[in-house]
Amino acid sequence: MGAEGGRLFEAFLNQQDEEAWQCALAQLEPHLHEVDRTATRIWFHFFPLALARALQEAEDPAALARQLFLEGKYRLADQIDSSHRFLYGHRYWPEVKRALIAYAHRTRAPERMSLADHIREVAAMVAEERRLEPSLTLGITAVAFMTVEQVGLEAFQATPGTIALDPRTLARTPDEVLARRARDDRQRLFYWWKYPDKVWTITFDENDPEATFRLINRQHLTTAAAQDKRPHHLRDPRCVPNEGPIPVQCRSGSCGSCWVGVLGGAEKLSEMEEYERRRLREFGYIETDEPKPIIRLACQARAFGAVSIVIPPWNGVFGRFLRKWRQQQRPMELMGTP
Ligand code: FES
Repeated sequence: MGAEGGRLFEAFLNQQDEEAWQCALAQLEPHLHEVDRTATRIWFHFFPLALARALQEAEDPAALARQLFLEGKYRLADQIDSSHRFLYGHRYWPEVKRALIAYAHRTRAPERMSLADHIREVAAMVAEERRLEPSLTLGITAVAFMTVEQVGLEAFQATPGTIALDPRTLARTPDEVLARRARDDRQRLFYWWKYPDKVWTITFDENDPEATFRLINRQHLTTAAAQDKRPHHLRDPRCVPNEGPIPVQCRSGSCGSCWVGVLGGAEKLSEMEEYERRRLREFGYIETDEPKPIIRLACQARAFGAVSIVIPPWNGVFGRFLRKWRQQQRPMELMGTP
């Protein structure tokens, strides 16, 4: 079967549009382990299929990226083995990758099963190999399928599939990760003396024990982050020197650089105001009526407790463009044009 199987599988994946993915994710979500339920949703917001397709179809992708003010690492192809580092299931990536490549090459008639069923099958194979609950491998497997769809099987196979997590992070159980996310700081006497308000820890990379900053109760996330004077611009060139780990430009909800995913503690952030909701929609990051969604603008969200966030590796302004692009795709779909 080999190469022919791979081509059939790729063709099947290329037929999966945003609607098909929404449907698959809705079917999978109740079966995802809690430790990766929110993380998986965040990942799919960080790497939207429609934007990847629009860039692939563009005559001049670099010009389109400039038009949409895309900054940072927005291409999944440049981060196949690392884009999902914030998922607990990232630790199973080498096995998931191997299993998916083998599955893609031997599947004869992929269209006979739904996307969700294919994902379930590969996740179950990895879970069996690692002797885990399948709920732990489901999110990272869904991520792997979407990665193949966006970058192609050849590019997916070409990366080494290795991960770099320190042994302490690797040893953490899902329950320990969830307990850490739920924990709030005990207020020490020193802080009561130094600050009139409570002080909370904001974690911006759960895999790095150094990746935290302090936030005084009710501060905006970006205001607190700016007190962290470490050279974050060496890790992410979008970061402004001396302004902390979250990229910022305007601090007023105008530029979109400061979007973050909220892995834990979303309920300890201020409710979203209409302005933030509208801006998130205009940037293209999320459309939601939830008062405390999983994607926020860090310059608009205030914290009232310890929170764990993820900083996406890129930012842009593409909401209006994608709405138009989707409208243009619809007549072509009705005519049967791929
Ligand atoms: S810093 Fe510009 S939108 Fe937040």
